[in-house]
Amino acid sequence: MADLIMVTGGTGYIGSHTVVELQQSGFEVVIVDDLSNSGIEVLDNIEKITGTRPLFEQFDLADRDKTADFFARNKGIKAIIHFAAYKAVGESVQKPLAYYRNNLVSLINLLDNQIKYKIENIVFSSSCTVYGQPDVLPVTEQTPRKDAESPYGNTKRICEDILHDTIAANQQLKGISLRYFNPVGAHPSALIGELPLGVPQNLVPFITQTAAGLRDELKVFGNDYNTPDGSAIRDYIHVVDLAKAHVIAIERLLKAKNKTNYEVFNLGTGTGLSVLEIVKGFERATGVKLNYRIVERRAGDIEKIWADTTYANNELGWKAEKGLDETLLSAWNWEKKVRGIK
Ligand code: NAD
Ligand code: WQD
Repeated sequence: MADLIMVTGGTGYIGSHTVVELQQSGFEVVIVDDLSNSGIEVLDNIEKITGTRPLFEQFDLADRDKTADFFARNKGIKAIIHFAAYKAVGESVQKPLAYYRNNLVSLINLLDNQIKYKIENIVFSSSCTVYGQPDVLPVTEQTPRKDAESPYGNTKRICEDILHDTIAANQQLKGISLRYFNPVGAHPSALIGELPLGVPQNLVPFITQTAAGLRDELKVFGNDYNTPDGSAIRDYIHVVDLAKAHVIAIERLLKAKNKTNYEVFNLGTGTGLSVLEIVKGFERATGVKLNYRIVERRAGDIEKIWADTTYANNELGWKAEKGLDETLLSAWNWEKKVRGIK
């Protein structure tokens, strides 16, 4: 019988791609999502890709009673992948309590029930935001975390600590925090992808919406950074590569291949690219000319970061495989599909 994996936030951007990879690797999936930042039609599209409709329940994981009721009814879950969280950095500055409540309480509720029902394994969505602007590049998992620049970033740091401390106190629990760098792109089927509400804050969705004519121009935030072309550098990873790492993390836990009960991995490509390189890469990959303009730096942005992926490569046997052009083209194909552009 297939192992049952609970995926919180499974109709969201990274969660939906991970559900596809889990199902294609033979796992059974139950998604919990309150649909606060995703749509129910994602289930149809997952079914179109994989031939299987995941189990689904809609409720808020920060609701203690509803979460307890779910676990009382759903026995046999072997592991949890916890994607569900609010993730808009700017909004978190305006609404810190909403972010702390949602992101911290949902994790606490899950862990309470894991202990109660002896569900050993959890994989947590962390972020390279915990490193802030590192003093040395690239960043390894040993690179010190810095004070968070936003309430959102702080929730990731605190959630890592909650996991670490809870696992230390409960020897039957095992967990992996995956620190994502910048996830971009979409499934090659163009049936699932990122669908930001309102004006996108992230670079690649803004680029694809500009190319699609929804935005007049892309603003490139700053060309006076200490980088080769002056624009800021990040490590952009294809969401399908990222999703595959979750399947490997789950298998590692289920087969007890973990070295310690709590582990942390960087998930990036290992290559830093500037904003202008992404703009040029998009034009090259898609043949679409982008209207862009250099403007002031964006407040709170760091100058440069990219991952040292040696540990993930060696320990997980995982490596990001998709190149930049394929990644940006997949983002464009998704945008075209959503907007009905031929
Ligand atoms: P997303 O918003 O697309 O997906 C999150 C999903 O969780 C959404 O479907 C939302 O409806 C759901 N959700 C939120 N709060 C919930 C709650 N209390 N109960 C039930 N469902 C809830 O975001 P994403 O980009 O797929 O990110 C997934 C995870 O990865 C998040 O934890 C995010 O912080 C983390 N992460 C994302 C990025 C990124 O750039 N996208 C980078 C690093 C880390
Ligand atoms: C990338 C680069 C911008 C938009 C954020 C979160 C981080 C993580 C990933 C979750 C930067 C530049 C952007 C635009 C631009 N999320 N840019 N014009 O800021 O690296 O990280 O998402 O954990 O926590 O902070 O990603 O895509 O917003 O920006 O020039 O219209 O693109 O200045 O240099 P960022 P991003």
